[in-house]
Amino acid sequence: MIPSSFVLFCLGLAAQASAACTREMLQDAAAAYIKAQGAGLPTSPMPAVANNISYAENDKIMDIKTGVLNQAITIDFNRSLYDTTQCATFTELVSASNKPPYVIHTRMLFTADQITTIQSVVTTDGDWAFNATGQLYWNKQETWSTIPESKRDTRAVIQAAGDAYLDSWGDGTVKVPYGTPCARLEGGSYTAGKGSTANTCKMPQFPQPFKITNRRYVVDEEVGGVDIFNDFPFIDKVKPNGTSSTNVVRVEGGMIRYIHEVTKCSTKNCGR
Ligand SMILES: *[C@@H]1O[C@H](CO)[C@@H](O)[C@H](O)[C@H]1NC(C)=O
Ligand SMILES: *[C@@H]1O[C@H](CO)[C@@H](O)[C@H](O)[C@H]1NC(C)=O
Ligand SMILES: *[C@@H]1O[C@H](CO)[C@@H](O)[C@H](O)[C@H]1NC(C)=O
Ligand SMILES: *[C@@H]1O[C@H](CO)[C@@H](O)[C@H](O)[C@H]1NC(C)=O
Repeated sequence: MIPSSFVLFCLGLAAQASAACTREMLQDAAAAYIKAQGAGLPTSPMPAVANNISYAENDKIMDIKTGVLNQAITIDFNRSLYDTTQCATFTELVSASNKPPYVIHTRMLFTADQITTIQSVVTTDGDWAFNATGQLYWNKQETWSTIPESKRDTRAVIQAAGDAYLDSWGDGTVKVPYGTPCARLEGGSYTAGKGSTANTCKMPQFPQPFKITNRRYVVDEEVGGVDIFNDFPFIDKVKPNGTSSTNVVRVEGGMIRYIHEVTKCSTKNCGR
């Protein structure tokens, strides 16, 4: 039995199939994804999923019917980016009250208004600096409001800010446009206290050689957001060439305001 909301959603998609990828379509799809994760896939099917969808968790390709989406997870907080240029979404889900707790970062790619790719970094107890209670607490203090049109940065500026941040980990001479204040939420640990006006985002340089590869972007000019899925080297002692990681960054007036990092570990806290 297919719920009627699912049918209505598909009809809506069919009606706009020939149009460009709209923010509304992406918003509806992200909302459906959040709903499906909240209820579990069997009871709340994802609409507009292509038959041959490519689904991966922590860079492991798997059947969508076997992944975390099949669990009903209490969603305590969600935040999404909508990329109408690439037809892509990014969603951050936080569940501190679920057992086990989760922080999940997901990117979805669309072709002809169908979801063709879903990639998630799924973190829980034991992953890098993981503390969903802390993530939720600090995340809720932040303001990722819509930026007035006249003050918006271009896609290029937003993406370059995120790239500079990642590049600086391997090369301390890279100039990163940190704002003052700037705050980083790494797992559940926050670099800035409430009301901090400092730049607490600056990273020390990692041991060489150090290069962050396999960067995949979702950019949303309306909130100055970029998410970069990437292979993070060094940190995970079992995977020195790179483990699944993502950084979502908020840029205001060309300067980085917030960073959230989610990193998967092979062993407790990546063996550190
Ligand atoms: C799914 O099928 C479409 C249409 O046949 C094709 O363009 C696309 O590349 C396929 N995607 C994957 C992940 O195989
Ligand atoms: C997701 O966030 C939006 C706005 O921040 C909120 O209205 C909605 O209820 C949230 N969804 C869930 C399932 O928590
Ligand atoms: C997780 O974060 C919360 C809120 O900041 C804090 O009270 C708690 O002590 C943290 N837990 C651990 C294990 O660090
Ligand atoms: C990491 O990459 C190097 C160079 O490509 C390779 O020799 C090494 O086996 C890789 N290590 C692991 C653990 O995959």
